[in-house]
Amino acid sequence: MKPLQSLFLRNEKHVCPWWLAWTFDNPLRRMIHKPEAIVGPYLHEGMTVADIGCGMGYFSIAMAKMVGERGTVIAVDLQQKMLDLMQTRAGKAGVADRIHFLRASEDDISIKEPVDFVLVFWMAHEVKDIPKFFGQIYSILHKGGKVLYAEPRMHVANRRFQEILGHARQAGFQINDAPLIRLSRAAVLSKKG
Ligand SMILES: C[S@@+](CC[C@H](N)C(=O)[O-])C[C@H]1O[C@@H](n2cnc3c(N)ncnc32)[C@H](O)[C@@H]1O
Repeated sequence: MKPLQSLFLRNEKHVCPWWLAWTFDNPLRRMIHKPEAIVGPYLHEGMTVADIGCGMGYFSIAMAKMVGERGTVIAVDLQQKMLDLMQTRAGKAGVADRIHFLRASEDDISIKEPVDFVLVFWMAHEVKDIPKFFGQIYSILHKGGKVLYAEPRMHVANRRFQEILGHARQAGFQINDAPLIRLSRAAVLSKKG
C-alpha cells in the first residue's frame, strides 16, 4: 500500500493520529455533518451523554450546547492530545464546564457513571476488543438509552460494519434504525427499557 493510501484506507488497528483529525474536523465539515441533525433527535436539555472517541470534539462541543447548562458531556479519547485540543476549543465555545474530559485506555472506556446517550462516531473500527467495548457501553447506559454508532464508509466495508453490529447485539443491544449520515454507515442501538 502507498504511504498516503495507508493513512486513509488502512488496517483495522490503526488509531487516527491527532494531526490527521484536522482533515475531517474543520469548518468545512459542517457542510456534510450537521451535529444538530445527526445527534439532535436523541438529545434534550439536562441529559448526561458520552462521546466515545471524541477526537478534537466536533460533536462533544455541539452536544454540550444541546444538553445545556444542566447537562453533561463525557468526552472520552485514547489520546491526551485530542483531549487537550478539545479543551481549548470548548473553552472558546464557552462550554468547557459542561464537559468531563476523560482519557480511555485501549481496553477500558473509563466511564463509571450512568449515561442517557452514547455517540460512537467514526471510531469503533479502531477499537481492539469490540465485544468488550460494546459490553462496557451497555453497562453504563440507562435502560431505554440509545447509542448512535457510525463508521466512515471509505474505511469500513459493509461486511465489517455488520460484523461489528453483531457484537453489539451480543452485548444486549437492539438495532433500531439505520439513519442516513453522509459518508457513513450508521445504526441506532438501544438498551431495552
Ligand atoms: C477518526 S477519529 C473520530 C473523532 C470524532 N468521533 C469525530 O467524529 O470527529 C477516532 C478517535 O477515536 C479515538 N479512539 C480510538 N480507539 C479508542 C478507544 N479504544 N477508546 C477511546 N477512543 C479511541 C482516537 O484517538 C481518535 O481520536
